[in-house]
Amino acid sequence: MAEVIWGLATSHVPSIGAAMDRGKTQDDYWKPLFDGYAPAREWLAGNAPDVAILIYNDHANGIDLDIVPTFGIGTAERYRVADEGFGRRPVPDVVGAPELSQHLLQNLMDDGFDLTVFQELDVDHGFTVPLSIWTPDPGDAWPCPVVPILVNVIQYPQPTAARCYALGQALGRATASFDGAGTVGILGTGGMSHQLAGARAGFVNPTFDHMFLDAIEHDPAKLAALTREDYIRKAGSEGIEMIMWLVMRGAMNDRSRKVHSTYHVPASNTAAGLALFDNRTAQPA
Ligand code: DHB
Ligand code: FE
Repeated sequence: MAEVIWGLATSHVPSIGAAMDRGKTQDDYWKPLFDGYAPAREWLAGNAPDVAILIYNDHANGIDLDIVPTFGIGTAERYRVADEGFGRRPVPDVVGAPELSQHLLQNLMDDGFDLTVFQELDVDHGFTVPLSIWTPDPGDAWPCPVVPILVNVIQYPQPTAARCYALGQALGRATASFDGAGTVGILGTGGMSHQLAGARAGFVNPTFDHMFLDAIEHDPAKLAALTREDYIRKAGSEGIEMIMWLVMRGAMNDRSRKVHSTYHVPASNTAAGLALFDNRTAQPA
Protein backbone atom coordinates (compact mmCIF):
# COMPACT_ATOMS: atom_id res chain seq x y z
CA MET A 1 0.00 0.00 0.00
CA ALA A 2 1.39 3.40 -0.96
CA GLU A 3 1.01 6.55 1.12
CA VAL A 4 0.68 10.00 -0.44
CA ILE A 5 3.08 11.92 1.80
CA TRP A 6 2.86 15.38 0.28
CA GLY A 7 1.16 17.58 -2.26
CA LEU A 8 2.86 20.49 -3.98
CA ALA A 9 1.03 23.07 -6.07
CA THR A 10 3.10 25.45 -8.12
CA SER A 11 3.06 27.74 -11.15
CA HIS A 12 5.04 26.61 -14.20
CA VAL A 13 6.08 29.85 -15.96
CA PRO A 14 8.77 28.98 -18.59
CA SER A 15 11.03 31.89 -17.67
CA ILE A 16 11.31 30.54 -14.09
CA GLY A 17 13.09 27.56 -15.66
CA ALA A 18 15.13 29.82 -17.93
CA ALA A 19 16.19 31.96 -14.93
CA MET A 20 17.50 28.80 -13.24
CA ASP A 21 19.16 27.43 -16.38
CA ARG A 22 20.95 30.77 -16.97
CA GLY A 23 22.03 31.42 -13.37
CA LYS A 24 19.81 34.48 -12.87
CA THR A 25 17.96 33.47 -9.71
CA GLN A 26 19.81 36.05 -7.59
CA ASP A 27 19.11 38.93 -10.00
CA ASP A 28 16.90 41.69 -8.55
CA TYR A 29 13.95 40.61 -10.68
CA TRP A 30 14.03 36.93 -9.68
CA LYS A 31 15.42 36.87 -6.14
CA PRO A 32 12.12 37.57 -4.30
CA LEU A 33 10.41 34.71 -6.15
CA PHE A 34 13.16 32.20 -5.43
CA ASP A 35 13.50 33.37 -1.81
CA GLY A 36 9.82 32.49 -1.43
CA TYR A 37 10.48 28.94 -2.62
CA ALA A 38 13.32 28.27 -0.15
CA PRO A 39 11.35 26.86 2.85
CA ALA A 40 9.37 24.50 0.59
CA ARG A 41 12.50 23.28 -1.16
CA GLU A 42 14.20 22.63 2.15
CA TRP A 43 11.23 20.64 3.48
CA LEU A 44 10.92 18.67 0.23
CA ALA A 45 14.64 17.85 0.21
CA GLY A 46 14.13 16.06 3.52
CA ASN A 47 10.99 14.25 2.34
CA ALA A 48 11.84 12.58 -0.96
CA PRO A 49 9.13 10.11 -2.04
CA ASP A 50 9.67 6.80 -3.83
CA VAL A 51 7.66 8.05 -6.78
CA ALA A 52 5.76 11.20 -7.82
CA ILE A 53 2.63 11.94 -9.85
CA LEU A 54 2.62 15.27 -11.65
CA ILE A 55 -0.61 16.80 -12.96
CA TYR A 56 0.08 19.29 -15.74
CA ASN A 57 -0.92 20.59 -19.13
CA ASP A 58 1.02 20.41 -22.34
CA HIS A 59 1.13 23.68 -24.33
CA ALA A 60 1.07 22.21 -27.87
CA ASN A 61 4.72 21.17 -27.49
CA GLY A 62 4.55 17.45 -26.72
CA ILE A 63 1.14 16.95 -28.41
CA ASP A 64 -0.37 19.07 -31.16
CA LEU A 65 -3.68 20.88 -31.15
CA ASP A 66 -5.46 18.45 -33.51
CA ILE A 67 -6.05 16.01 -30.66
CA VAL A 68 -6.40 17.40 -27.13
CA PRO A 69 -7.53 14.77 -24.63
CA THR A 70 -9.46 16.07 -21.63
CA PHE A 71 -7.47 13.83 -19.28
CA GLY A 72 -4.42 11.71 -20.13
CA ILE A 73 -1.72 9.63 -18.46
CA GLY A 74 1.83 8.76 -19.50
CA THR A 75 2.74 5.09 -19.33
CA ALA A 76 6.31 5.30 -20.67
CA GLU A 77 9.65 4.22 -19.16
CA ARG A 78 11.11 7.66 -19.97
CA TYR A 79 9.89 11.08 -21.04
CA ARG A 80 12.16 13.38 -23.02
CA VAL A 81 12.36 17.07 -22.27
CA ALA A 82 10.49 18.83 -25.12
CA ASP A 83 12.17 21.30 -27.47
CA GLU A 84 9.85 24.32 -27.29
CA GLY A 85 11.64 26.18 -30.06
CA PHE A 86 14.77 27.29 -28.23
CA GLY A 87 16.40 23.90 -27.59
CA ARG A 88 15.76 21.41 -24.82
CA ARG A 89 16.22 22.68 -21.27
CA PRO A 90 19.51 21.42 -19.78
CA VAL A 91 17.71 19.26 -17.23
CA PRO A 92 17.46 15.46 -16.97
CA ASP A 93 14.92 13.50 -18.94
CA VAL A 94 12.19 12.07 -16.72
CA VAL A 95 12.24 8.44 -15.62
CA GLY A 96 8.69 7.08 -15.64
CA ALA A 97 6.98 4.53 -13.41
CA PRO A 98 5.08 2.33 -15.89
CA GLU A 99 3.73 -0.07 -13.26
CA LEU A 100 2.20 2.77 -11.29
CA SER A 101 0.87 4.29 -14.54
CA GLN A 102 -0.90 1.04 -15.44
CA HIS A 103 -2.27 0.68 -11.92
CA LEU A 104 -3.63 4.24 -11.95
CA LEU A 105 -5.02 3.87 -15.47
CA GLN A 106 -7.02 0.77 -14.60
CA ASN A 107 -8.18 1.95 -11.19
CA LEU A 108 -9.18 5.40 -12.42
CA MET A 109 -11.09 3.81 -15.29
CA ASP A 110 -12.90 1.51 -12.87
CA ASP A 111 -13.71 4.64 -10.85
CA GLY A 112 -15.26 6.43 -13.85
CA PHE A 113 -12.29 8.37 -15.30
CA ASP A 114 -11.32 7.25 -18.82
CA LEU A 115 -7.84 8.64 -19.40
CA THR A 116 -6.14 8.81 -22.79
CA VAL A 117 -2.91 6.79 -22.78
CA PHE A 118 0.41 8.35 -23.83
CA GLN A 119 2.90 5.58 -24.53
CA GLU A 120 5.30 8.29 -25.75
CA LEU A 121 5.43 11.88 -24.58
CA ASP A 122 7.87 14.80 -24.57
CA VAL A 123 7.27 16.94 -21.50
CA ASP A 124 7.28 20.75 -21.79
CA HIS A 125 7.71 23.61 -19.28
CA GLY A 126 4.39 22.70 -17.68
CA PHE A 127 6.20 19.60 -16.37
CA THR A 128 9.90 20.47 -16.11
CA VAL A 129 9.54 23.87 -14.42
CA PRO A 130 7.61 22.43 -11.44
CA LEU A 131 10.29 19.71 -11.17
CA SER A 132 12.95 22.45 -11.08
CA ILE A 133 11.00 24.40 -8.45
CA TRP A 134 10.93 21.21 -6.35
CA THR A 135 14.55 20.22 -7.09
CA PRO A 136 16.77 23.08 -8.22
CA ASP A 137 19.92 20.98 -8.63
CA PRO A 138 18.88 17.54 -9.90
CA GLY A 139 22.33 16.57 -11.23
CA ASP A 140 21.93 13.64 -13.61
CA ALA A 141 18.46 12.60 -12.46
CA TRP A 142 15.31 13.92 -10.79
CA PRO A 143 14.79 12.62 -7.23
CA CYS A 144 12.41 9.84 -8.23
CA PRO A 145 10.39 8.39 -11.14
CA VAL A 146 7.38 10.49 -12.12
CA VAL A 147 3.99 9.65 -13.68
CA PRO A 148 2.51 12.44 -15.83
CA ILE A 149 -1.23 13.09 -15.71
CA LEU A 150 -2.44 15.56 -18.34
CA VAL A 151 -5.42 17.92 -18.17
CA ASN A 152 -6.75 20.00 -21.04
CA VAL A 153 -6.77 23.60 -19.88
CA ILE A 154 -5.92 25.12 -23.26
CA GLN A 155 -8.92 24.37 -25.47
CA TYR A 156 -12.59 25.06 -24.73
CA PRO A 157 -14.38 23.32 -23.10
CA GLN A 158 -11.92 22.52 -20.35
CA PRO A 159 -13.05 19.99 -17.69
CA THR A 160 -14.88 21.54 -14.75
CA ALA A 161 -13.09 22.29 -11.51
CA ALA A 162 -15.49 19.84 -9.82
CA ARG A 163 -14.41 17.08 -12.21
CA CYS A 164 -10.75 17.85 -11.52
CA TYR A 165 -11.33 17.70 -7.77
CA ALA A 166 -13.18 14.37 -8.16
CA LEU A 167 -10.32 13.06 -10.32
CA GLY A 168 -7.95 13.95 -7.49
CA GLN A 169 -10.11 12.07 -4.97
CA ALA A 170 -10.11 9.03 -7.26
CA LEU A 171 -6.35 9.42 -7.74
CA GLY A 172 -5.87 9.36 -3.97
CA ARG A 173 -7.84 6.09 -3.74
CA ALA A 174 -6.04 4.56 -6.71
CA THR A 175 -2.61 5.51 -5.34
CA ALA A 176 -3.37 4.08 -1.90
CA SER A 177 -4.03 0.63 -3.39
CA PHE A 178 -0.66 0.46 -5.21
CA ASP A 179 1.73 -2.13 -3.79
CA GLY A 180 4.86 -1.13 -5.69
CA ALA A 181 5.89 1.96 -3.70
CA GLY A 182 5.92 3.12 -0.10
CA THR A 183 5.68 6.88 -0.46
CA VAL A 184 4.24 9.14 -3.16
CA GLY A 185 4.39 12.91 -3.79
CA ILE A 186 1.73 14.60 -5.91
CA LEU A 187 2.26 17.84 -7.83
CA GLY A 188 -0.54 20.03 -9.18
CA THR A 189 0.78 22.68 -11.52
CA GLY A 190 -0.02 25.85 -13.47
CA GLY A 191 -1.55 29.24 -12.67
CA MET A 192 -1.99 31.44 -10.82
CA SER A 193 -3.89 34.27 -12.52
CA HIS A 194 -2.59 35.19 -15.97
CA GLN A 195 -3.69 35.88 -19.50
CA LEU A 196 -1.13 35.73 -22.29
CA ALA A 197 -3.10 37.02 -25.29
CA GLY A 198 -6.15 39.00 -26.35
CA ALA A 199 -7.59 42.23 -25.00
CA ARG A 200 -6.75 41.33 -21.38
CA ALA A 201 -3.14 40.21 -22.06
CA GLY A 202 -1.11 40.86 -18.91
CA PHE A 203 -4.15 40.53 -16.63
CA VAL A 204 -3.49 39.27 -13.10
CA ASN A 205 -5.88 39.25 -10.14
CA PRO A 206 -4.17 39.07 -6.72
CA THR A 207 -7.54 39.28 -4.92
CA PHE A 208 -8.72 36.09 -6.60
CA ASP A 209 -5.33 34.41 -6.13
CA HIS A 210 -5.29 35.12 -2.39
CA MET A 211 -8.82 33.77 -2.05
CA PHE A 212 -7.70 30.66 -3.97
CA LEU A 213 -4.57 30.17 -1.83
CA ASP A 214 -6.68 30.33 1.32
CA ALA A 215 -9.43 28.06 -0.01
CA ILE A 216 -7.08 25.42 -1.47
CA GLU A 217 -6.07 24.88 2.15
CA HIS A 218 -9.36 25.36 4.03
CA ASP A 219 -12.23 24.98 1.57
CA PRO A 220 -11.33 23.23 -1.71
CA ALA A 221 -15.02 22.42 -2.31
CA LYS A 222 -15.62 26.15 -2.75
CA LEU A 223 -13.03 26.20 -5.56
CA ALA A 224 -14.52 23.05 -7.08
CA ALA A 225 -17.90 24.81 -7.29
CA LEU A 226 -16.58 27.59 -9.58
CA THR A 227 -17.36 27.26 -13.29
CA ARG A 228 -14.73 27.33 -16.04
CA GLU A 229 -16.10 30.74 -16.99
CA ASP A 230 -15.55 31.94 -13.39
CA TYR A 231 -11.90 30.90 -13.62
CA ILE A 232 -11.38 32.57 -16.99
CA ARG A 233 -13.17 35.79 -15.97
CA LYS A 234 -11.48 36.07 -12.58
CA ALA A 235 -8.05 34.52 -13.24
CA GLY A 236 -7.57 35.08 -16.99
CA SER A 237 -7.74 32.71 -19.95
CA GLU A 238 -4.59 30.87 -18.79
CA GLY A 239 -5.46 31.27 -15.10
CA ILE A 240 -7.82 28.33 -15.56
CA GLU A 241 -4.66 26.21 -15.20
CA MET A 242 -5.40 26.49 -11.47
CA ILE A 243 -8.01 23.74 -11.76
CA MET A 244 -5.03 21.36 -11.85
CA TRP A 245 -4.19 22.34 -8.26
CA LEU A 246 -7.55 20.81 -7.35
CA VAL A 247 -6.51 17.41 -8.71
CA MET A 248 -3.60 17.41 -6.26
CA ARG A 249 -5.79 18.72 -3.42
CA GLY A 250 -8.42 16.05 -4.05
CA ALA A 251 -5.77 13.38 -3.45
CA MET A 252 -4.93 14.73 0.03
CA ASN A 253 -6.56 13.34 3.17
CA ASP A 254 -8.63 15.25 5.76
CA ARG A 255 -5.66 15.79 8.02
CA SER A 256 -3.29 17.30 5.48
CA ARG A 257 -1.51 20.37 6.80
CA LYS A 258 -0.06 23.31 4.88
CA VAL A 259 3.71 23.50 5.31
CA HIS A 260 4.41 26.62 3.27
CA SER A 261 2.93 28.91 0.66
CA THR A 262 4.27 31.85 -1.28
CA TYR A 263 2.98 34.32 -3.85
CA HIS A 264 4.81 36.74 -6.10
CA VAL A 265 3.74 39.09 -8.92
CA PRO A 266 4.95 39.10 -11.59
CA ALA A 267 6.94 36.18 -12.91
CA SER A 268 6.89 37.04 -16.60
CA ASN A 269 3.17 37.65 -17.28
CA THR A 270 1.96 35.50 -14.42
CA ALA A 271 1.13 35.67 -10.74
CA ALA A 272 3.35 32.90 -9.38
CA GLY A 273 2.16 30.87 -6.40
CA LEU A 274 3.20 27.79 -4.48
CA ALA A 275 1.46 25.76 -1.77
CA LEU A 276 2.95 22.70 -0.07
CA PHE A 277 0.92 20.22 2.01
CA ASP A 278 2.17 17.52 4.39
CA ASN A 279 -0.21 14.58 3.96
CA ARG A 280 1.41 12.02 6.25
CA THR A 281 -0.99 10.32 8.63
CA ALA A 282 1.66 10.22 11.34
CA GLN A 283 3.06 13.74 11.22
CA PRO A 284 6.04 14.63 13.38
CA ALA A 285 5.12 17.00 16.25
C1 DHB B 1 3.76 32.15 -19.22
C2 DHB B 1 2.94 31.47 -18.32
C3 DHB B 1 2.47 30.20 -18.62
O1 DHB B 1 1.63 29.48 -17.80
C4 DHB B 1 2.84 29.59 -19.79
O2 DHB B 1 2.41 28.34 -20.02
C5 DHB B 1 3.65 30.26 -20.71
C6 DHB B 1 4.11 31.54 -20.42
C7 DHB B 1 4.30 33.51 -18.92
O3 DHB B 1 3.82 34.18 -17.99
O4 DHB B 1 5.24 33.94 -19.61
FE1 FE C 1 0.95 27.50 -18.84
